[in-house]
Amino acid sequence: MPVWKVCGGNALEGSAVVQGAKNAVLPILAASIVGGGVSCLDNCPKLLDVDASLEILHYLGCSVMQNRGKILIDSGGMSRNHIPHALMMKMRSSVMFMGAILARCGEVRLSAPGGCELGSRPIDLHLKALHELGAEIEESGGEVCCRASKLKGTHINLDFPSVGATENVMLAACAAEGTTVLTNAAREPEIVDLQNFLNAKGAKIHGAGTAEIHITGFSPRSVTEHAVLPDRIAAATYLCAAASAGGDVRLERVVPAHLNTVTDVLRSMGCEVAEGEREVRLRRSGRLNAARPVVTKPYPGFPTDAQALLMSACLKAGGTSVFVENIFENRFRHVSELRRLGADIRVEGRVAMVSGVAKLTGAPVSACDLRGGAALVIAGLAAENVTEVIDTGHVERGYERFAQTLSALGADVQRCEATSDTE
Ligand code: EPZ
Repeated sequence: MPVWKVCGGNALEGSAVVQGAKNAVLPILAASIVGGGVSCLDNCPKLLDVDASLEILHYLGCSVMQNRGKILIDSGGMSRNHIPHALMMKMRSSVMFMGAILARCGEVRLSAPGGCELGSRPIDLHLKALHELGAEIEESGGEVCCRASKLKGTHINLDFPSVGATENVMLAACAAEGTTVLTNAAREPEIVDLQNFLNAKGAKIHGAGTAEIHITGFSPRSVTEHAVLPDRIAAATYLCAAASAGGDVRLERVVPAHLNTVTDVLRSMGCEVAEGEREVRLRRSGRLNAARPVVTKPYPGFPTDAQALLMSACLKAGGTSVFVENIFENRFRHVSELRRLGADIRVEGRVAMVSGVAKLTGAPVSACDLRGGAALVIAGLAAENVTEVIDTGHVERGYERFAQTLSALGADVQRCEATSDTE
């Protein structure tokens, strides 16, 4: 069990290359089974969630190879259409295999993905949409089973622009007869990356990135190559770390437009942010101002995944920063841990008010979820003495070489294994 040991006080200097996007590679790995064939992926991050997806692909009968940032999947030998509880438990977002297996096999059975640290994480929108495509849905014994002798294209309107539901519709609709029009679709850049991958595989999809996506059939190609887009949340993480610690950091292999909402707030706090075609540079000296109100929304609004990260950068800012979390019902679990470092934060329902303090003092804290764990490390960079972030495996689900990246920028961060006195 990792413990992130942070000795605060160092400013960050230098440059770092940002990893491939976790939330793009995961649906693309699921999509690799649609239509069979071989998929050659590049710029894939080395993450626990990627490992979990590769384990599922292997269980389904696909052959998978991974070498540094490249992953090769041959889904020709796929022989199963169900995912057992033990594998679903490892990563709830494996629910995106549902649409892919349904498209490939006409039937899918998986252990119902439970909630997680962020909340109940229902999949009602996924199931409603797949039913509208012609699938019969059965939920019993903790399992969800979808079967369809024939999927038929139709107009599906999502009650909420769910990222996962959008992805599951795109995947299942590849096997549907006729055209599927999906409205109120999620508009995240990762949806566009999934569209690009599926089209490279022989699908005919357009509109991703807007609220209306059209999916018309599939003419499978035997080999597909695709490079995964850069991770905008990992980029936001390292920018917030530089804002928190102070210094001058340049991130390479990013898409600046994908993190506009985060960089706009950092500028409003007094950071200098310069953008190149594929890079972002942040400089911060002197005390930060409080952030203007941060309200999380579906893309292109402020990303919920960056809420905790930015909150940590605000802890010593002059004034009060207000955060409103609209996407998940339980995404302030990092607050109680930040208070242990001396942060002054009040929470009322979905609203958190952060009053800047003069000093933070290191202490042992616990990571409650992926982004909350990263936020605790960011706070530790600005705290005196040592902060130990005790982690049960959250951070490495989503960050590749996390300690190495921060250390290369001058942070004093070490990944240690928990010993009995830290458990
Ligand atoms: C994706 O989760 C991301 N995960 C999340 O990133 C991200 O926070 C989220 O989108 C929002 O941007 C991956 O892409 C693997 P949603 P997803 O369906 O698809 C409710 C991270 O830290 N909802 O858009 O599960 C749901 O409960 C992770 O990288 C329903 O009610 O998100 C939530 O409140 C965390 N019914 C809201 O919608 C449904 O059927 C947004 O969920 C589906 C969702």
